Formats: sequence, C-alpha cells, structure tokens
Amino acid sequence: MRIERPDFLTYSQGGRKVELPLPDAAAQAHSARLLERIRAAIAEAGGVISFRRYMDMALYAPGLGYYMAGQNRLGADGDFVTAPEMGSVLARVLVRVLTPLLQSEASSDGILEFGAGRGALAQQIHQCLPEVPYTILELSPDLQEQQRTALPGLRHLQQLPERWRGVMLANEVLDAMPVRVVERDAGGQLRERAVRCNGEGLEWDWMPEPYAEAIDPGLTPLLMAEWPEHYRTELHPLASAWLREIATCLQAGALILMDYGHEAGEYYHPQRQSGSLRAYYRQHWLDDPFYWPGLCDLTAHVNFSALLEAAPDLGLEVQFYGNLARFLVEHGLAEVYAELTAGLDTQGLLVLNNEIKRLTLPQEMGESFKVLILHKRASA
Ligand SMILES: C[S@@+](CC[C@H](N)C(=O)[O-])C[C@H]1O[C@@H](n2cnc3c(N)ncnc32)[C@H](O)[C@@H]1O
Repeated sequence: MRIERPDFLTYSQGGRKVELPLPDAAAQAHSARLLERIRAAIAEAGGVISFRRYMDMALYAPGLGYYMAGQNRLGADGDFVTAPEMGSVLARVLVRVLTPLLQSEASSDGILEFGAGRGALAQQIHQCLPEVPYTILELSPDLQEQQRTALPGLRHLQQLPERWRGVMLANEVLDAMPVRVVERDAGGQLRERAVRCNGEGLEWDWMPEPYAEAIDPGLTPLLMAEWPEHYRTELHPLASAWLREIATCLQAGALILMDYGHEAGEYYHPQRQSGSLRAYYRQHWLDDPFYWPGLCDLTAHVNFSALLEAAPDLGLEVQFYGNLARFLVEHGLAEVYAELTAGLDTQGLLVLNNEIKRLTLPQEMGESFKVLILHKRASA
C-alpha cells in the first residue's frame, strides 16, 4: 500500500530518492522573497552572478539569508547537528587544552568564539571555566539571541576587536564561508561557475570571463593537470583572508579551528570529482545548492593546507593539526569519559557512547573533521 504524505516532497539525487518535509507557508514565502532578491541581483549583473555571490546571499543577505532571518535550524530537530549539539565531550576535551593556555597573563581577554550557533559550546565551556570571560562574535541576529539565553553573562562583539589576548575558537565557521566553484568544461578548460535564472528558479551557468586568477594554496599545477573533464571543486578566498585578519588581531594566545576539511592533496585529488559543496535540509545533505534558498544551510569543506601554509608568515605556530579522533584521544578523551560516566544510568551511558562513536568513527566525524591549533607568542 502506498501511503500518501502530502507534507513531504520527493528529492532525487544520484539514483536515490529522499522524502523531505515541505516547508510551511511562511517559510516558503520567505524563500520566495530571497529568491526574488537573488534573481534581481542576477538581472542587474547582466544575466549571471558568481556562485560565491549566490552563497553569500543565500546564507547572509540581511534579513533574508539562512543565518540572518531566523530560518536556520541547528540541532537534532533541525537541518544539521554539530559536535557541541551532540553533547559535551568535545567541550570537556577542549577545556583541558584551554586551561593551560588561559592561565598565562597574556590571555587576560579570555575566550572569543566565532559563529557560536545556539551557544552550546559556550555554555559547556563556561560551566567548566566560569571565571573566564566569554565573548562571541556572531553574524546572525537570532543566533545572538539564542546565545544570550544559553549563557546570560556573555558579551557579544559586532566586529573583530583591534587586539585580543587569549583564546579564539571557531567550530564549523570556515565551512560556512562562501566559496568559489571552479570546473573543467567539456573542452578541458578550467572555468568559474556562475548562477543564472531558470524559469521561476535558479541553475548553474559559467562566468563569462576565462578563469585566470590565483589558485588555492597547496593546489599545484601538477594536481590540476590530472583533473578530468567536468571535475568540479571549490576555492576559499574568504577563509585565507579571515585568517590574516585574525592573526593581526591576536596579540598572544591561540586560535583553535575545528571543521570538516582536508589538506590540498586530498581535497583536490583527481578522484574527488564533484567537490564538497552541499546543502543541508532537515538532516539530509543535498547536491542541489539552489533548493529552497534561505531554508537550507550551504557548506563546503575547508582546504587546511591554505591555513597551514599561511600560518608561519602570520606569526602563528602550529601546535596541533589532525583529525578529530586523534585530537580527542591525545587530549584526554579517556579521562573525560571517566568523568562523564560517573553516576550515569544505562540509558545515559548509551547516549554518551553514541556521542563518542559519532565523534571518533572514521565514517562519521573522526576522519574528515579536523582540528587546528595555532599559537601566537606574545611579542617581547
Ligand atoms: C555551521 S554554523 C556553526 C555553529 C556553531 N559553531 C556550532 O558548532 O554549533 C556556522 C556559524 O558561523 C557563523 N559565521 C559565519 N561566518 C562568520 C564570520 N565571519 N564571523 C563570525 N561568525 C560567522 C554563522 O552565522 C553561524 O552561526
């Protein structure tokens, strides 16, 4: 018997069909308003805009983008789940790393977290380190509100301060920064991808001018020469620019970056033919970035080579770089597990074990999620 589900839509990708919940009328109207704004920008630009501009509008258009209009849904009942939303294991291990870093005089400003989502990590860290000042720099007005509820005493910044002495944290922030998409066309030429209007919606196009700009750090001509026709990937000019700004602001202390990503050799491997760009909607990843603009998160993995290569020139020393499983094991996962299991009943233990599996198994976050700790010494 076929059960009709009028509130669901069927989405097809790579031969598989997914049933997705239909957005309610208000959300649909919201998406239509953003779509109208994007289509107007395309018309104004003469027929196409770069994918990077599209991603910027879809996520951050004031009052309309996914993160700017209260449409984002983080957490188990939302579009996607981040490590702090699963439980406190990551925060507890981070506290073990943060404690010695924050003890020095040079760390008097405390912790500055970027893009803190619903404030889960902030709340969990603050519980363990209540005396350390906690500040958040968040672009999303409604997430700022949710963060204030999660942690009433915190301070918000609307822009990067001139100087910071302490620890900076960013969990899944770099993967939410707009990327450029490049692809080898049918003639084998590398070109940048664009977005154009299609009927009532949007579709892929090509930027008119030939692609001739600098490539991402770590991406060598040798690797590119092996890319087959239709190879598509992403470049990250904003991530590199952001790191430069942060390095200027950070006077002494550390920057801890946690994100999905790879080094360039793997990121730009010829076999990785369709890149890492994804839309997330109600716990499903979708290959169509034009699906319900403003109601889906858009994300692309981070090229960690770009950050590792830039660090020394910016006065940043690599203190740790590795996958999440290794980071957790080398920084006290066993001790944290012992602390957290004390007093747990069977149900609690199952939940905790499940969280640890999701953080450490290679097919979950254990391998593709990376941690990078960059240290800045106080200048004499
Ligand atoms: C995928 S969410 C991650 C949320 C949270 N860190 C977590 O782990 O649950 C991305 C967040 O980064 C924020 N963001 C993106 N670019 C930013 C920037 N340049 N500065 C600060 N926050 C930024 C977004 O507003 C959003 O809150």
